[in-house]
Amino acid sequence: MKYTIAVVPGDGIGPEVIGEAVSVLRAVGDRFGHDFTFNTVLAGGAAIDAFGECLPASTLEACKAADAVLLGAVGGPKWDHVPGPQRPERALLGLRKELGLYANLRPAMIFEELADASPLKPDILKGGLDILIVRELTGGIYFGEHVTEDLTDELRTINNYPETAVIHAYDVEKYADFEIERIARTAFDLAAKRSGRVTSVDKANVLDTSRLWRRTVEAVAKDYPDVTLDHMYVDNAAMQLIRDPKHFDVIVTSNMFGDILSDEASQITGSIGMLPSASLADGNFGMYEPVHGSAPDIAGTGKANPIATILSAAMMLRYTFGLAAEADAIEAAVRSFLAAGYRTPDIAGKDTDSDKITGTQETGSIIREFI
Ligand code: IPM
Ligand code: MG
Repeated sequence: MKYTIAVVPGDGIGPEVIGEAVSVLRAVGDRFGHDFTFNTVLAGGAAIDAFGECLPASTLEACKAADAVLLGAVGGPKWDHVPGPQRPERALLGLRKELGLYANLRPAMIFEELADASPLKPDILKGGLDILIVRELTGGIYFGEHVTEDLTDELRTINNYPETAVIHAYDVEKYADFEIERIARTAFDLAAKRSGRVTSVDKANVLDTSRLWRRTVEAVAKDYPDVTLDHMYVDNAAMQLIRDPKHFDVIVTSNMFGDILSDEASQITGSIGMLPSASLADGNFGMYEPVHGSAPDIAGTGKANPIATILSAAMMLRYTFGLAAEADAIEAAVRSFLAAGYRTPDIAGKDTDSDKITGTQETGSIIREFI
């Protein structure tokens, strides 16, 4: 089969890790007889430098025309001075919205060989950890109104504050029932194929959006008699993730809460350089990217761990192309890499042989060999 993949390397270590994921995909294509075509386009800081905007229309078009998108990472200190609406991160938000990527899947799992890397005590993690965070990605406070207003004149008349400039700002959290319903279905469908448990995280003791969230998730749950559902307030969920992470299988939550909890969950694994993610639209279309950022501090050193991006490519094969055996082959190759004792610097322990510590390209080529 022929597949077209839009590749967005982005900034910092993005291009380096993407390079390895692309060559792993080529190796999979060779072994299984698929024709992957890669169309590389710019977004983020790289696009600001080249075109003066973080998400050029041509990039968006190329992504829409592709069967799937593979993204590295965007942003870095170089663009810190860029005003809000044109910051590199806006490219991500624009891609999510324009491509309809409402379901963000962020697995947080512990690789057996890397169990020591978790900052949690071993008895809390006994038997491993495999959590899937399903984050709503195109609604909520991220996409509500963002307003900053200078109220100096009003306040002058109302409160008689002559010299004080008074500014207020607000961001609107808004959810429609259909947005909650579709992300809940994604979570339940996934849970049905895993251990059959969904935890819905909200702040229903305070927020109307969360009360609608809870009601809607409960209604969807009726269609999934084999999946158990529990609810948790987000503050408690943040605590339980540390206290008893094994309570969780699939977590479904809003855009903002999912942003925060997925960073927390990634740290529990101790190996953020290993974690992939998928952002899915209706149908099979999706965008795939590592959970980590652009790591400008190590960009260009050849030390970045490409495994999160390589595993993101595996998720692409599984979810968008329905190529399960091919995805398995990548995941097995990553496990073989670890089992053979190889480690990138971020996951190397004090006992790792120095000749088993691999750079970005060496990691990619060893994984390709295992494929
Ligand atoms: C993420 C990031 C983004 C988000 C930023 C870069 C806009 O933190 O993907 O989690 O908040 O969604
Ligand atoms: Mg985040």
